[in-house]
Amino acid sequence: MSVRRLAPKELQPESFAFTEENLAWAKREITKYPPARQFSAVIAIMWRAQEQCGGWLPEAAIRVISDMLEMPHIRALEVATFYTMFQLNPVGKKAHVQVCGTTPCRLRGAGELIEVCKSRIHHDPFHLSADGDFSWEEVECAGACVNAPMVQIWKDTYEDLTPESLNKVLDGFAAGNPPKPGPQNGRQYAAPITGPTTLKTGGINVATDTNDGPALTDQEPKRTTEAANTRERPDPKAPAADASEKNPP
Ligand code: FES
Repeated sequence: MSVRRLAPKELQPESFAFTEENLAWAKREITKYPPARQFSAVIAIMWRAQEQCGGWLPEAAIRVISDMLEMPHIRALEVATFYTMFQLNPVGKKAHVQVCGTTPCRLRGAGELIEVCKSRIHHDPFHLSADGDFSWEEVECAGACVNAPMVQIWKDTYEDLTPESLNKVLDGFAAGNPPKPGPQNGRQYAAPITGPTTLKTGGINVATDTNDGPALTDQEPKRTTEAANTRERPDPKAPAADASEKNPP
């Protein structure tokens, strides 16, 4: 695991205070937990503080939160430095790009996406671009492998990327007009790029309004590795007599 340190003093704000709205939200969050267990709200409240601070968590915010939750500062620092969802240094004002570098995305071109980030944002991860608008890092699987390669920006994922489409996504953020999240190649969610391949035969064909007949008939043999539940369930058998029946009829 990488060493995660707080941002240097010169980048840290003097103080932190929640906005009125966020403070009210945080207080409600704390009431969800029983007395003496209020520190269970730490992750949710830190996340709200990170959002309020423009995507990163200053030390002053960590201290304010630990005081709110009546937990030692070191415990709150442990949480903030352990979970990589918390950014400990300032991130780009317009976008912090998290590029998935795990195997499926690597095999589908994540390396090229990283090159885009290096040339367009900064050679090194966790550094701001010259205008302070962008930053990037490589992360582990973000759970969108079927549409690899992908990046996450704030709460959204941009999938099925190429270097060209990633540049377009970043252009959108630079212009303050982010594109629609999800696949960037026209794919519908995680459906095959060539269109639906199931339920195309059998039953009513909605395109032609005709009935194609059953998709599977009993005459068709079950193929090896075909899921067992595609076949009809046999009639249930009567239960066998059990040992407790001393004198079966
Ligand atoms: S490997 Fe990249 S999203 Fe899972």
